Amino acid sequence: MSDMPLILRLPSSEDEANAIAGHCQIVRDPFVDFLLDYRPGEPFADWVERVNGVSLGLHCPEPWIRGEFLFMEADGYLAGRVWIRFQPEGRMAELEGHLGYVVLPAFRRRGYASQALRDALARLHRERVETAVVTCDEANGASMALLEGAGASFERMATVHGTSRRRYLLATSP
Ligand SMILES: CC(C)(COP(=O)(O)OP(=O)(O)OC[C@H]1O[C@@H](n2cnc3c(N)ncnc32)[C@H](O)[C@@H]1OP(=O)(O)O)[C@@H](O)C(=O)NCCC(=O)NCCS
Repeated sequence: MSDMPLILRLPSSEDEANAIAGHCQIVRDPFVDFLLDYRPGEPFADWVERVNGVSLGLHCPEPWIRGEFLFMEADGYLAGRVWIRFQPEGRMAELEGHLGYVVLPAFRRRGYASQALRDALARLHRERVETAVVTCDEANGASMALLEGAGASFERMATVHGTSRRRYLLATSP
């Protein structure tokens, strides 16, 4: 069970201290980055403007594709982030799928990833994605358990240029 209800919201420049602290905590994680496309040393407000422009459909510079990058907020605290991708293509479609998520270490095992996953699936449903592909590394037992607990079905292994991932399928309908 969750400690608190979770909301998914756009990043804001007021998140700077917590978001950068979170990014530094995740930097050595073998599976993900926290602040995607954050360039060390750039003004945080520039990153916020770039990422929110993608989520609001205003622009889509590389490495972004159409979708939403949202922070997880629980009881006023920054607890994690999700990157929802509406139409992944090519290598991204095969190896990464529609969704990526990170919960910051201090907030894990409180049901926040499960809540964020449900909200993200609803957002994909509104974009007419019926079946979401979510992938994880074979060594990532936490993500695998999360997905299987959420009812995802293992589809197959995917391998591109020597990188392999487990592909899972999740219906997006409520
Ligand atoms: C994977 C991750 C998102 C899970 O976030 P979380 O908020 O802790 O997950 P939840 O609390 O919603 O967990 C739901 C269920 O998933 C399973 N689970 C989650 N973390 C687990 C772990 N470390 N070991 C085993 N099972 C785990 C459990 O079944 C859990 O239910 P329970 O706590 O009632 O037993 C988090 O560990 C994380 O951010 N990891 C680093 C980034 C990452 O790997 N992202 C995914 C890339 S594919």
